[in-house]
Amino acid sequence: MPQLILTADPDFLELALDDAYKAATEVTQVAQLAPGIMLLDCDLGFWGVAESWRQEPPIFARHIHPVDMTVPLRGAADDVSIIVDAAEAEIASMLDPDLPFSVQTRILGDLPYKPFDVNRALSQRLQELSGAPLDVRKPMQIVSVVCGEMDDAVENSGRRTTPLRTADDGSADDTQSAIRNSQLAFLGLSLADYNLSDWAGGERRFAREKDQVSRAEFKLLEALEVFHIDLPQRGVALDLGAAPGGWTRVLRQRDQYVTAVDPAELDPRLATDKAIRHKRVTAEAYLADEPDEFDLIVNDMRMDARDSARLMVDYARQLYPHGVAIMTFKLPEHGRRQVLEHAFKILRGTYVLAGARQLFHNRSEITVYLKKK
Ligand SMILES: C[S@@+](CC[C@H](N)C(=O)[O-])C[C@H]1O[C@@H](n2cnc3c(N)ncnc32)[C@H](O)[C@@H]1O
Repeated sequence: MPQLILTADPDFLELALDDAYKAATEVTQVAQLAPGIMLLDCDLGFWGVAESWRQEPPIFARHIHPVDMTVPLRGAADDVSIIVDAAEAEIASMLDPDLPFSVQTRILGDLPYKPFDVNRALSQRLQELSGAPLDVRKPMQIVSVVCGEMDDAVENSGRRTTPLRTADDGSADDTQSAIRNSQLAFLGLSLADYNLSDWAGGERRFAREKDQVSRAEFKLLEALEVFHIDLPQRGVALDLGAAPGGWTRVLRQRDQYVTAVDPAELDPRLATDKAIRHKRVTAEAYLADEPDEFDLIVNDMRMDARDSARLMVDYARQLYPHGVAIMTFKLPEHGRRQVLEHAFKILRGTYVLAGARQLFHNRSEITVYLKKK
């Protein structure tokens, strides 16, 4: 059966697998290669699942890529050339010479080489052989490589992968026993648009800026990128639950005038900015105060997702007809799916749910993108 590798936040893996079960009729967990990284057998294969998720994107699955070949490794520095030689035989001819490509490698566990070593060697060879241009910033096709220890994974899952199967007579043949005691590399070629994220394993990292107010800034940056949100020039934005002001700072960098609502203090570095007004009240109290209308409402309040959704419904009248909203849903440890479905139901009467994803920078929450109905 075709295989693929699915990556999600380890804490949300079960929900990510539910996403996969919805997309395909038969999905089997073969092995957990590392926390949150699953090798799956799937009747529809990578392309079937990816096509279905292009129509209806999953919430919790963060990244997928196909497994076109599984290569036994030695766990030594010459693994890099083993991977390159194997890819030369099978992957090079699959690359479209007209589309920019890149190689994305993840090393799971302790191996004497880094992702960069594989990326550099493999992309150089594939470029020579296929003629496809290398473009690590905007690749259209991606060769994904995951190097990992299968022994642990097999123990964890209680199942074995194809290379570990015994021969028909019940004995393991020589190659298979060699593989059993070694590391494996999983390689697959796909279009970037089908992987759910342009980043290896969906790990979208942003550079830390010296004036950064909070780590929460990364969440908003990632949401704007993932949901392809362009903010209006000199728009007016409302930031609910703004303190200490990370999202407010990101919005200011995008030239928005910001009303920041939070009973807590904003970072003093934001105090001199005349385009920020801080309302030191709760979102509930601010709404009762007949506030203005806005192009954008963002909401990162620490609050039950359903209560937060109800408040967003009340706030919809403060949003211009073209307005959009971004909010986080804080999810409890148990009964997450029910809380999520309930919160969506509350929003649906008033908003179009334009996107919902568990982003790399989300912790026990997801980020939701709303358009006014
Ligand atoms: C995760 S923090 C927000 C971080 C912020 N997005 C940033 O980038 O710095 C959550 C905030 O929600 C605020 N909050 C919780 N309940 C609120 C309410 N009812 N009204 C307004 N703010 C609230 C808290 O005071 C807290 O500052």
